[in-house]
Amino acid sequence: MQEQLNQIEADALASLKNVENLADLESLRIKYFGRKGAFTALMKGMGALSQEERPIVGKHANTVRTRLTDAFDRLAETLARQERQQKLALEKIDITLPGRRPTIGKKHPVTQSLERIQVIFRGMGFQVAEGPEIEHEYYNFDALNTPQDHPARDLHDTLYITDSQLLRTHTSPVQVRVMEKQQPPVRIIVPGKAYRRDYDISHTPMFHQVEGLLVDYRVTFSELKGVLHSFARQMFGEGTRVRFRPHFFPFTEPSAEVDISCTVCGGKGCRTCSWTGWLEILGAGSVDPNVFSYVNYDPNQVTGFAFGMGVDRIAMLRFGIPDLRLLFENDMRFLRQF
Ligand code: DAH
Repeated sequence: MQEQLNQIEADALASLKNVENLADLESLRIKYFGRKGAFTALMKGMGALSQEERPIVGKHANTVRTRLTDAFDRLAETLARQERQQKLALEKIDITLPGRRPTIGKKHPVTQSLERIQVIFRGMGFQVAEGPEIEHEYYNFDALNTPQDHPARDLHDTLYITDSQLLRTHTSPVQVRVMEKQQPPVRIIVPGKAYRRDYDISHTPMFHQVEGLLVDYRVTFSELKGVLHSFARQMFGEGTRVRFRPHFFPFTEPSAEVDISCTVCGGKGCRTCSWTGWLEILGAGSVDPNVFSYVNYDPNQVTGFAFGMGVDRIAMLRFGIPDLRLLFENDMRFLRQF
């Protein structure tokens, strides 16, 4: 039996030399010390030994077990260290590499322009009002002095939802909604979306407007000019000139289209302004007394002015964007530039 113990020790030590990893080592440990292992099996035979032999063999067996266990443990430690180092080498991280930047969103050029416009008018004492995008034709047309058979209705390319409900074609209906609820003085701007059946280089079916309305006792057209002058200079720069051209809108009388000196050429004439030196940015006028009648304001007591501007066009001018449709195609490569 002592012979067998020596044999097992010699075999095991020899096998250890070929072990290359912890998994193999564990298999080897089981081969000798597992429940069905060679050493374990041998120990089961101890019972058959005589009284004299048993302590001698037992002592020898303990020594062999200790020596082998030590050898196994030492190798386990070495292998564990090696494996850890291999792993570290494999997973090496270059901490000098730049990190991945989180992508930071930016405001859409239209949003930027809308916000700038609001800041400017707030500075002049205007409050921000809003209204529904699905609108009744009464607010979109009738109460704005545009009755059923009025030719101006045809100009609007209206998107109807039912016979009487539509997507508002401008932000002007909010004028009526506010005046219905509030007595003068009224001093509001209305930023929002409007819709028309239109699609080309300077028209999209959805677009943005900012409406303005000021109603009080004895408001004059020259105050409208003053407010819009001030707005134009703050929005487009100190040197900006403003021009009023007579025009027609059903809800204002007199009405005007308002141009600013071209932001690209400064008024000399270029492609952007079609060689006129001027860019049209809004419509405006004195509120038609008929509109006051619809909201039960006394046209003999109050006067006012209104204006409406296309925000997308203003964003195009501010950022030099050649095609309005680019604003709404949501191509990130395009939008990221602003
Ligand atoms: N609502 C007009 C449009 O969409 C713009 C406009 C013109 C608004 C004159 C006004 C105004 O308030 O007074 O074309």
